[in-house]
Amino acid sequence: MKELRIGMLGLGTVAHGVVSLLQRNGELIARRIGVTLRVVRIASRPPIKTVGLNLDMDPAERLVLAALKHGKHVVTANKALIAVRGVGLFQAALENNRDLMFEASVAGAVPIVKAIRESLAGNQIESIHGILNGTCNYILTEMREKGLPFADTLAQAQEKGYAEADPSFDVDGIDTAHKLAILAAIAWGTPPDFKSIHIEGIRPITDGDIAWATEMGYRIKLLAIAKRRDEGLELRVQPTLVTKSSMVSQVEGVFNAVFVKSDFAGTTMYHGRGAGAEPTASAVVSDLIDLARNLSLTAASRVAPLSIQPQHLRHLPVHDIANLKCEYYLRLAVLDRPGVLADITSILARQGISIDAIHQKGRTTSQEAVPLVIVTHQCLEKDMQNSLAVLERLETVQGKPVFIRMESSLA
Ligand SMILES: NC(=O)c1ccc[n+]([C@@H]2O[C@H](COP(=O)([O-])OP(=O)(O)OC[C@H]3O[C@@H](n4cnc5c(N)ncnc54)[C@H](OP(=O)(O)O)[C@@H]3O)[C@@H](O)[C@H]2O)c1
Repeated sequence: MKELRIGMLGLGTVAHGVVSLLQRNGELIARRIGVTLRVVRIASRPPIKTVGLNLDMDPAERLVLAALKHGKHVVTANKALIAVRGVGLFQAALENNRDLMFEASVAGAVPIVKAIRESLAGNQIESIHGILNGTCNYILTEMREKGLPFADTLAQAQEKGYAEADPSFDVDGIDTAHKLAILAAIAWGTPPDFKSIHIEGIRPITDGDIAWATEMGYRIKLLAIAKRRDEGLELRVQPTLVTKSSMVSQVEGVFNAVFVKSDFAGTTMYHGRGAGAEPTASAVVSDLIDLARNLSLTAASRVAPLSIQPQHLRHLPVHDIANLKCEYYLRLAVLDRPGVLADITSILARQGISIDAIHQKGRTTSQEAVPLVIVTHQCLEKDMQNSLAVLERLETVQGKPVFIRMESSLA
């Protein structure tokens, strides 16, 4: 039987998963594809102390380039690498007539890269939205179910191993944005453009916001949103209010889900485990299997890595967030004095923002702030930002107003 010989760089969580999958299911895979997948080399870092040494601490790009130049095909789970360095790497793969595959880089076990690039290849993609970071979704789910604040829930997630000791990459939305850059690239045949994404994380979300949202029939989710709009793209990662009856609001805990809206297929949904050794290994091995099939049938580059033939890739402008139009949830801490509400509503009215609902809880002395929640109709982000700047300066408004964008029409 033919053999695909595999060299692995690093032996961490994902690599362990790949080795154990190949040990358990290698024979079955060989029967399915007529090629044996064999790990022949593993390069691992020697356990030396690196403090004070000038070592190359992020060698992924260098190693992948070297592998491609040496005629190796490359499979990676590294989303940061593809989102930030993808353009140069795909160019190197093309020049060396080798494949660079990355199914595992988005949503772990969920076969979303293949679904967009191959199964939906006959469609024009209109929009993509989804939950791409299990850590954030776990934190938001626990905050809602247990009524706990962000900091306590994060500490609990760290104890359970769902969040890293330094959680910034996850909770500040960077990891989600890396994945969104990749999905937008394959959906619209444009080079991955991480820098243009508007990114907001979940740190500012309080248990109070979650309780308010629940009371009004919404849930708060960290969403990755990409829409084709006019001649460009809308790309954003942000906490978002979604209606309780939407499918995306039912995605709970560490699970990931992606919704793709396309012209002929309509909305399709992909749901599953977005991280962990075994789910991620499943995606890595699916790329290895594709490679083995391509090679045994001499059909390398059968599918263009970014879904469009490299010579036809084109840059699409990403819209400025200032031109976004949506509904907003606004939370202000206000002193309960006569005329406060009138001041606030007239500031919003001056920017042409109309109000859908106002909620205020509790009455205290005129010295103590109470939360005031306002839900607006659709308005422009720049009008909202202008209003916030004025609201912040009101003597009766304490602290910085919190605002969360709403997407009431999402699946
Ligand atoms: N874990 C997941 O669920 C998951 C899911 C999807 C995608 N990914 C992506 O997959 C990639 C690997 O993730 P992982 O969870 O397996 O990470 P990990 O457990 O931290 O393993 C990383 C591996 O890379 C090696 N390494 C890191 N820096 C190195 C350096 N400077 N020189 C040489 N070797 C180095 C590490 O060696 P040492 O052991 O010697 O430090 C380790 O073997 C990441 O890009 C991640 O974002 C992970």
